[in-house]
Amino acid sequence: MANVVAFGLQWGDEGKGKIIDLLSEFVDIIVRYQGGANAGHTIVVGDQKIILHLIPSGILHPAKVCVIGNGVVLDPSVLVSEIEELKKLGYMEDARRLKVSAFSHVIMPYHKKMDVYRESATESRKIGTTGRGIGPAYEDKASRLGIRVVDLLDRKLFSEKVRENLKIKNFLIKRYYKGEPLRLREVLKEYAGYRSVLKDYVADTPYLIQEGIRKKKNILFEGAQGTYLDIDHGTYPYVTSSNTIAGNAACGAGVPPTAIDYVLGVCKAYTTRVGEGPFPTELTGPEGELIRQKGGEFGATTGRPRRCGWFDVVIVKRAVALSGVRGLAVMKLDVLDEFDTVDICIEYRMGRRVSMQPPMGLKGWVACEPVYERVPGWKTSTRGITRFEDLPVNARKYVQRIEELVGVPIDIISTGAERTHTVMRRNPLASRG
Ligand code: IMP
Repeated sequence: MANVVAFGLQWGDEGKGKIIDLLSEFVDIIVRYQGGANAGHTIVVGDQKIILHLIPSGILHPAKVCVIGNGVVLDPSVLVSEIEELKKLGYMEDARRLKVSAFSHVIMPYHKKMDVYRESATESRKIGTTGRGIGPAYEDKASRLGIRVVDLLDRKLFSEKVRENLKIKNFLIKRYYKGEPLRLREVLKEYAGYRSVLKDYVADTPYLIQEGIRKKKNILFEGAQGTYLDIDHGTYPYVTSSNTIAGNAACGAGVPPTAIDYVLGVCKAYTTRVGEGPFPTELTGPEGELIRQKGGEFGATTGRPRRCGWFDVVIVKRAVALSGVRGLAVMKLDVLDEFDTVDICIEYRMGRRVSMQPPMGLKGWVACEPVYERVPGWKTSTRGITRFEDLPVNARKYVQRIEELVGVPIDIISTGAERTHTVMRRNPLASRG
């Protein structure tokens, strides 16, 4: 029995979808514990490419139970279309395989509107959000105006809560953002449709997961976004509105921290970021463009080109410490195949000082400069390689150098998008204690 958290060490899009998909085979229950439809996991199975925003990618494996945990902010329109799409592809015949937490907060149309309006009204300070209503939904949760899935199931209560919320939201939408107000009747009608689908999936998910733990089931907790998008530990304010670090798996799923046996940190062999905010190792020239093209670095949710740069040990090392990471999954090594040399950021220069400690404030993040160690490239295709010994010697050295600098063993190396394009040095589900 092992309960594992797999989550991102950088700015999201590390390739967690593929890792979750791979590890799902060895677990019974897969749980999403934070974020919402801002996440986008692309999974390639044979010639099928599937993008999931809410449902854990474990749903593609037969007989696994997938849970959308209480810490998630749930957009029912996205969930319902994912259910329909998966049913069409023959993946979700048994409704008991998906459980939606009664305690998740529901994303409402005004959350999405406010997200988009706010971004366009504050052009100079915009975050570059996904426009999925994530921030406004978590705001309502914290200010106790939120509507939970359990409330959506209660027609009368739901209608009262929406009415109450619309009074405030429409005031802002009309008066401040000069936008079109929402109509109560239309919102209620739309959400009645979602209620009729979702009612079959709603559950007391903390209880269900705890039952799983009691029965010694293997559980995989799936993080969304990455450490530097964490609301507390990220490059604030250029972050998402939830805690993305592994510690939130306990809170967002409703299990004790002691239930977690192993934390797997997922990072790319380089770094990417989508949206605004500091990014010390960003490459704005042709090298960045090569990574973007070769790595297909375009957002799964918004299609935006991702900003690309070299691997940054400073951020990864801190992310490892924040979450108690025991092993790494290094993704997309093959994207670096064509470079003559590859740089690894080993420290930040801040004025006359160099440090392994990232800056505390935004100004420091923007001003700091990466100090690089240059290593030779391998100029050979690593695509699809499955054994560590078969990697070109310089690729092996690169990976080993990262391992040494970060100070945590690399369990998994990904050499392509396919499930089979993977070097599994150690299966985290086999580790315990
Ligand atoms: P929000 O989560 O939509 O509010 O966006 C806040 C910031 O997080 C923006 O910079 C987004 O681009 C970024 N972000 C949100 N979700 C993801 C993700 O799944 N991958 C990468 N970046 C994300």
